[in-house]
Order: sequence, then C-alpha cells, then structure tokens
Amino acid sequence: MDPSTLVEQAVSGVPAPIWFVQFFKVLGFTLHAMPMSLWYAGLLIALVLHLRGNEHGRRFGGRLLQQMPVIVAIGVNLGIVPLLFVQTAYYKVFYPATILMAWPWLAIIALLIPAYYGIYLYAWGLKNGEKLARLRVVAGWCAAAMFIVIGFIFANGMSLMGHVDRWVELWSDNSVAGAASGTALNIGDATLWPRWLLMFGLALQTTAAWLLFDAEWLGGMAAVPAAAKQLDDNYRRWAWGFAKKLYTVGLIWFAAAGSWYVFGSWTPELRESMFAWPLVLLAVLPAIAPGLSWLLVCFGGRTKAIALLAFLAQFCVLAVNALSRQFVQNLNLKPYWDVYSLPEDIQWGPLAMFLIVFVIGLGVIGWMVAQIRKCDSA
Ligand code: HEM
Repeated sequence: MDPSTLVEQAVSGVPAPIWFVQFFKVLGFTLHAMPMSLWYAGLLIALVLHLRGNEHGRRFGGRLLQQMPVIVAIGVNLGIVPLLFVQTAYYKVFYPATILMAWPWLAIIALLIPAYYGIYLYAWGLKNGEKLARLRVVAGWCAAAMFIVIGFIFANGMSLMGHVDRWVELWSDNSVAGAASGTALNIGDATLWPRWLLMFGLALQTTAAWLLFDAEWLGGMAAVPAAAKQLDDNYRRWAWGFAKKLYTVGLIWFAAAGSWYVFGSWTPELRESMFAWPLVLLAVLPAIAPGLSWLLVCFGGRTKAIALLAFLAQFCVLAVNALSRQFVQNLNLKPYWDVYSLPEDIQWGPLAMFLIVFVIGLGVIGWMVAQIRKCDSA
C-alpha cells in the first residue's frame, strides 16, 4: 500500500501565515523543553542527591524538589503552545499517528496526574518534616519514572507523526477488522531511541544550567542566615563544581546520541538535504551550541553574570535544536504533507487573541518564577 493514500489531501486554509506557525511551534517547544528538562532528568538527579548526596547536594536536591510543582505547571502549560500549532498545520499527520498509538497517547494524562501529585507530596513532605517520609520518597521515585515514560511516549508520537512510511506496518499489526486498535508504539523506528536519548542529554545539560541559575539568582543561599556566610561560599563552590561535571556528562551523552541519530538513523536523502547549504547550518549549529555553552559553564568564571549567560545560552541550545528538528520534520513529511504548499486563510481575530493571551501567559510565568524565589532552602 502507498502510505501517501493514508494522508487525506483535501485541505482547508491554514488560519495563520506558515512562518508564524513555524515560529511559534519552535518557540513554544523551546519554552516547553526548558522546564521539561528539569522534571525529565533534573528530578532524578534531585532525588538521588536529596537521599544520598552530601550536605550541598541535599540542599540543591531539596530546593529543586520544592520548586518542582511550579516548574511542572509552567512546562505543561507551555507545552500547549507547540501543540496548538501542531494541530493547526500538521493535523492531517498528527491525528492519524496518535490514533495508531491512541492508548499510550491517552496514557500521558493517566500518568501525568499521579506524577504531579507525587511531586506535590514530596514538596509538601519537605515542608512538613519527617511526616510521611517513606511515602514521600516512593511518590518521588514513581513520579520520576512516570515522567520518563511520558517522555518516551512523546518521542514515539512525534517520530511516528514524522514517519508516515511506518503507518502501514503499524496499522496492519495493530488493527481489528480494519479499525486501528490504538495499541501501536513506534519502537521499530530507527530514529526513536537516539531521538529519545538526545532529548535526555539536553535535559542533563539544562539541569546543570538551572543549578547555576538557582544558586546565583534564585537565592540558593538566600535562605541561609547571614552568619553562615562560609557555608554560602561552600555551597556556591559545590554548585559550580557539580554543574561542570553534570554539563560534561550531558555533553558527552548528547554527542553520542546525536551522532547515532544523524549518522545511524537518518535516511541518506535526509542527510543529503540537511548537509546541503544553507540547511547545513541547522545540522552543524545544534551540534556545536552545547559545546559553546559547556565552555561558558566550565571556563567562564564563577560569577552571577556567567550563571545568567549560561542559562540563556542553554535556552539558545534548545532553540537551535528545536529549529533544526522542525526542518527535519518538514523534510520527512514533504512527500506526504508539504506544509509550505498549504493555502492560507488568515484569521486575524484569533491570531490577535493568541498573541494577547501568550503575552499575559508569559507575565503569569514571571509571577510564578517570583514564587520560586520564595522557596525555603531545604
Ligand atoms: C500534558 C502536557 C504536555 C503537552 C501539551 C506537551 C506538548 C508537547 C508537544 C506539542 C511536543 C512536540 C513539539 C514539536 O514537535 O513541535 C512535545 C514534545 C516533547 N515533550 Fe511534551 N508536553 C506535555 C507534557 C510533557 C511531559 C509531562 C513530558 C515528560 C517528560 C514531556 C516530554 C516531551 C518530550 C521528551 C518531547 C520531545 C519528543 C520528541 O520529539 O522526541 N512533555 N510536548
């Protein structure tokens, strides 16, 4: 069967200019990926440090765990932005892919709600001494496992959406009397595992950048009495030392997964397109950007300004990655769903509403981050 027959080609006009859709899809995903990284890899690290770390590790672990409910709220809400634009311009490929794997896809909600409760329980437990200590720990680890599974489901969904050629096989293996049973997963796709691991490597780096930002800007030491100044300096020294090690691990992880992804799973046609000028910039930049950020973390000097720069640099690392994967997605989909050739039927009213709500939403996030500042050091 020709997979292109599975994509309905009748279209109604896209309600926003294509450049607008692409821009906010990439920006939205970058804004989602920043906090998402902190519950993807950061939560695991915080749990390990809080239970087994030294005095400073326990303090950072406790801080991140207390901040986590706000971080998840921010990240989940920001996930809606790319979702909106996926549904606006990629609906003909997004819905069939997520119908093929409907049960795992729906399971995201069933996993997310208890995971959210789990981190609330941990954060609440931290504020309430030893109450429910064991339950708190179990809840924290279960939440971390659920977030990792959710990330895996997202990687399945996004890779399946981009690889229409996988649908025929998955549909015939997971259907009853021609109706999709919704039980498919895209695990046979060569891009899935390196793509999933690549995101995790980025998440390790982002956690390191957050550690510095938190220590220098969100009062990693502020809740410590002035008399314990020496402890503050020790904490800062530990934070920089640990961030360097963590970023280095994230960088090596990213380099290994990224090489596997590009050289071991891309088709020769995709590689040829992405390595040709000017797209080659979007193949090279995401590869070198984490290296530049690593230089900043390791050799920039231990100052507030460098901590802020490293945090912003990490945002850029995620942004170039998001931009690159957008082009890869469009190239993979081109034979079946060419997003650039879709007719536009621009609806200015909803566009203006989106922009207003987006700006208000960012303002609310600013307020939420201000609440993080008020977290007591654990
Ligand atoms: C329910 C709230 C969430 C929404 C609406 C949401 C939305 C999205 C969207 C739309 C994308 C694709 C962006 C694009 O390709 O342009 C995405 C990617 C991703 N999300 Fe979320 N997300 C949510 C929660 C989560 C959670 C809880 C995790 C757990 C770790 C997560 C992990 C990921 C990962 C790993 C990717 C990248 C997958 C890949 O392309 O390989 N998301 N998310």
